[in-house]
Order: sequence, then structure tokens, then C-alpha cells
Amino acid sequence: MNQMNARVEETNRRLQERLMHVSRLAAVGEMAAGVAHELNQPLAAVANYAQACERLLGMPDPDLEEVRDALRQITAQAVRAGDIISRLRGLTRARESLGELTDVNALILELADLIESDARAHESSCRFELAEGLAPVTIDRAQIQQVVFTLVRNALEALDERPIGAREVVIATARAADGDVLIEVRDTGPGIAPEIAQRLFDPFCTTKPAGTGLGLASSRTIARTHGGTLDHRPNSPDGACFVLRLPQPAGR
Ligand SMILES: Nc1ncnc2c1ncn2[C@@H]1O[C@H](COP(=O)(O)OP(=O)(O)OP(=O)(O)O)[C@@H](O)[C@H]1O
Ligand SMILES: [Mg+2]
Repeated sequence: MNQMNARVEETNRRLQERLMHVSRLAAVGEMAAGVAHELNQPLAAVANYAQACERLLGMPDPDLEEVRDALRQITAQAVRAGDIISRLRGLTRARESLGELTDVNALILELADLIESDARAHESSCRFELAEGLAPVTIDRAQIQQVVFTLVRNALEALDERPIGAREVVIATARAADGDVLIEVRDTGPGIAPEIAQRLFDPFCTTKPAGTGLGLASSRTIARTHGGTLDHRPNSPDGACFVLRLPQPAGR
């Protein structure tokens, strides 16, 4: 009897070890997919700016200031890609770095050039509605910028389905009644397809032929590690609105 117990225990232990191994592998796979998704954005931006440089330099009387701007963007994007990789190298360090007191408006304005050039590429207009007097929040700057950029990208991709002239994305900040800081990304696109509304934030949920379906899932994870939330609601009169809520710093 004891022998049988021992054997059952041994089998259980092995089974558990295997399960741990499988779930660790799954976690690594998910993380790799997340990093691939994050890296795609700065890499695409670098390629775009490099192409722009080539085009500008091919003109008879090239505007060197414009070329210099594009080169600066390339540097900034390469640094961003580097940040993403160093986060992967030391996930524990990433947690320690969660905690720079940040003005979200300034954080968004740092992305303005990138957002505007992306909007131009999608023949869409973009507008910033930044509220005054927002309290600074304690955040991992690169991660929150990543979320904003993911939401803007999604909005611009949704707007591709609308006629030119009816494409607008608005990036807004606001103070919630309870003092939390809100970042909203609104678009005038077709809105969320009803058949995926319930699964929108699930990993791999996508309606795009080349989509990974990881943008919103990883964005919500980032929101939650900050003690915040990421949700969506219909925009009025049409389109989608995503709301990132960041908790106000304690004591305010
Ligand atoms: N602003 C939006 N308007 C309409 N639908 C949206 C919007 N944002 C997201 N969605 C829907 O949510 C799905 C999931 O978005 P998510 O960013 O997670 O992945 P994806 O955009 O499909 O893929 P990837 O981010 O890898 O390109 C999209 O496929 C799209 O159907
Ligand atoms: Mg996306």
C-alpha cells in the first residue's frame, strides 16, 4: 500500500514538473510574441523615416533640416527598440524602473511627431486634446508610450476603412472625478466588430489578416501592472474610444 502511495506521489510529482515546464514555455512564447509585437513598431518607424530621407535627398534642392529631423527620429526609435530589448534582458529591473513621476501630456507630446507621420501615412487627421492641471503619475514611461502608440495604430488601421476626409483620431487626456488620470484614443472608424467585442482584449483575438492580436492584450497587461485599467466604449457619433486609466499618486 505504501509502495503504491509512493508511486502515485512520484507520478504526481513528475506530472507537476511537466506542467510547470509547459506553462513556463507558454509564458516564454507569449513574452516573445509580445516583444516581437512591440519591436515591430519602432522598426517600422525606422524604415519609414529612412525611406523619407532617401526621398528627400533625391530631390533637386533637398531640405536638409527635414532630413536632420528624420534622422533624429531614427535615433529616437532605435533607442526605443533598445529599451524594449533591455527590458526583456532584465524583467526584474523593469519592475524597479516602474516609477518615474511623469507628466502624461509631455509624454504624449514626445510621441506627437511619430503619431502625426503615422496619421499622414494613413491619410487621416489627428488632434490632441490635452487637459491642463493634471497631476503627475508614477509610470514606466516607455511602457505607457507603447500603449498609446498601440491604440493610435489600431485607430489608424480602423480608419483605413473610412473615406478620406472622414478619418480622424483624437488623443485626449483628462482628470477623472476621483483624481485618476485618463488617456483616451478616439477614432471615427467603423467601431468594434460586434462578434469580437467580448474577446477584444484576449491574446490572439484579431480581425486583421496579418494581425497578431497581441496589441490590446499586452496593453491591458501594462495598464494593470500600473494599477490602472484599459477599456473601450463606442465613440460618439461613431467609431471606437479606448480609455487608459492611471491611478493618481497616493496622497493627492
Ligand atoms: N480602434 C479600433 N476600431 C475598431 N476595431 C478595433 C480598434 N482597435 C482594435 N480593434 C479590433 O481589436 C482587434 C485586436 O486588436 P489588437 O491591437 O489586439 O490586435 P491587431 O491590431 O489585430 O493585431 P496587431 O496589433 O498585431 O497588428 C483588432 O483586430 C480589431 O478588430
Ligand atoms: Mg493592433
